[in-house]
Amino acid sequence: MTDGEEPTAGDAADAETVVRRDRFAGGPARGFMSSLAADERIFAADLAVDRAHTVMLAEQDIVAADEAAEILSGLDAVEAAGHGALPDGEDVHEAIESAVVAEVGAVGGKMHTARSRNDEVATCIRHRYRADLLDAAEATLALREALLEAAAEHTDTVMPGFTHRQYAQPVTVGHFLSSYAGAVERDTARLLAAFDRTNESPLGGAAFAGTTFDIDRERTAELLGFDGVVENATDAGSARDFLVEGTAALATLTATLSGLSADLIEHAKDGYFVPSDDYASTSSIMPQKVNPDTLELARAVTGDVSGDLAGLLTTLKGLPRAYNRDLQRATPHAWDAVDDATEATTVVAGAVATGEWDAEACAADAGAGFSTATGVADALASAGIPFRTAHEVVAEAAASAPDDADPETLAANLDTAAQEVLGESLYERVSREDLSTALDPVGSVAARASHGGPAPDAVADSLARMTETHDDHEAALAARHDALAAAETDLTDAVNAYT
Ligand code: ARG
Repeated sequence: MTDGEEPTAGDAADAETVVRRDRFAGGPARGFMSSLAADERIFAADLAVDRAHTVMLAEQDIVAADEAAEILSGLDAVEAAGHGALPDGEDVHEAIESAVVAEVGAVGGKMHTARSRNDEVATCIRHRYRADLLDAAEATLALREALLEAAAEHTDTVMPGFTHRQYAQPVTVGHFLSSYAGAVERDTARLLAAFDRTNESPLGGAAFAGTTFDIDRERTAELLGFDGVVENATDAGSARDFLVEGTAALATLTATLSGLSADLIEHAKDGYFVPSDDYASTSSIMPQKVNPDTLELARAVTGDVSGDLAGLLTTLKGLPRAYNRDLQRATPHAWDAVDDATEATTVVAGAVATGEWDAEACAADAGAGFSTATGVADALASAGIPFRTAHEVVAEAAASAPDDADPETLAANLDTAAQEVLGESLYERVSREDLSTALDPVGSVAARASHGGPAPDAVADSLARMTETHDDHEAALAARHDALAAAETDLTDAVNAYT
C-alpha cells in the first residue's frame, strides 16, 4: 500500500506545499505518487533524523543556534500534532518540512540544507527497520525458550520419528523439539547480522553526490545510534540490500516456522501433541473438532514473506544507481514481511509453550512399523556381523513382520532370518538381553547417545549448549537495545541544548 489516500477536491485546492509548490498540486497520478499514508511507519524516524541533522548543522555553524532552536521547536509542534495532521504531500519528508515552515516561518526551510530526501528516506527506513529487526529477533528468542523448555521436560518421552512421513526410528519429544530450537537459533543469528548491516547511516550522502557544506556525517550517525556511515554518497541513498538481507532472513525464519507448524499439525492429528484451546479453533458444524488453525495460518505466512522477498528483489533488479522512485514501492514489502514474520513467530511460540505432549500416545507408537530395526542392525553390527549382512537379516525379518508386531514376534522373526542368512541362531551372536534392549523404543533411544543424538543425556547436553547460545543472543540483543536507547537520550540532550 504505497499509494496515498485518494485526494479529494478540497485537498487538491490547498495542496500547494512549500517544498513541491505547484509540482504536486494535483493531477490524476497524485495518489499513485504519494507515499504519505505508508510513511506513517517512519514518521517518528523522520523527526529523529530531522533533529539530528539540525543539531549537526548548528554544531557545524551551517545554521545559527537560534535558527536551529526555531526549527527544533517547529519539529516538536509537528510531533505533537501527529502524522494525521500533516499537510497533504508527496511523502512524509516533504510534509514535515512544509509543516515546520508553516509553524516557524521561512527559517524552517534551512532544515533541508546539505541533504536530500534520498539520503533522508534511506536513513529513516534504516532507523525504523533496525527496531523492527530487533523485535523479530526478540520473538525468535521467545520461540527458542518455549522449544527449549518443552524439550527439557521431555528428554525421556519417547515418540516415533519419521522420514518421508513413514515411521523411521524412535526418538524423544525433547530431541524433536530441540531440532527446531537449533534452526531458530540460526534464524536469530541471521536477524542480528541483518541488524548490524542495517545500522549504518546514509545521512549526508545528499542526493547522491555529497555536498559542498562542511557536514559531519559521523556526528549525525552517532546522534541517531548508527554504528557508522554508509561510505559512498551514491551507495548511501541507493542501497536497499539491507532490506533484502533482513527479508531473506525473515523468509528463512518463516520456512522454519512452516516446518514446525506442519510437524505439530501432524502430531496433533496423531494425538501426540495437544494444542491448547487458545491456539485452536473448532468446526462450525462438527462440534467435536479441535483444529490447529493457528499453526496452519503460521505455516501459510511463508507464502506472504517469501512473496515480499520476491517483490523486493524484482523491484530492485536492474535499477540504475542513485535514487529512482521505484524504491518507494520496495519499502512496504519489508514492513509487511517483518510484521507478518514477527507475529507468526510469536503465535507459534505461544502454541508450543501452551501445548501438551501426550506421553502415552507418543510411547504407544514409538516402536510402530518396526522402527527399532536400525538399532537392531546396529546391535548385530556391534557383535561383529558386517553392517550390510546385519541389514539383510533385519530386512528379512521386517518383511515377514506385521506393522504392529510386538517385540517378541520381531525377536522370533529375527532369529529365523538369522538362520537363513547366517546359517546360525541369532543368539550365537547377541545376547537375548541386548536384543530386547534394541527392540525396546526406550532402549533404542538410550543407545543412540552420539553427539546430537536422541539419548536423554545427549539431548540434555545439546539443550545446555543451546541455552548458552540463547543467553548470548539475548545479551547481544540487549546491548543493541541499550545502545539505541542511549543514542536517543543523547539526541534529546543535544536538542535540549538549543531549545
Ligand atoms: N517517498 C520517497 C520514497 O519512499 C522518498 C524519497 C523521494 N525522493 C525523490 N527524489 N523523489 O522513496
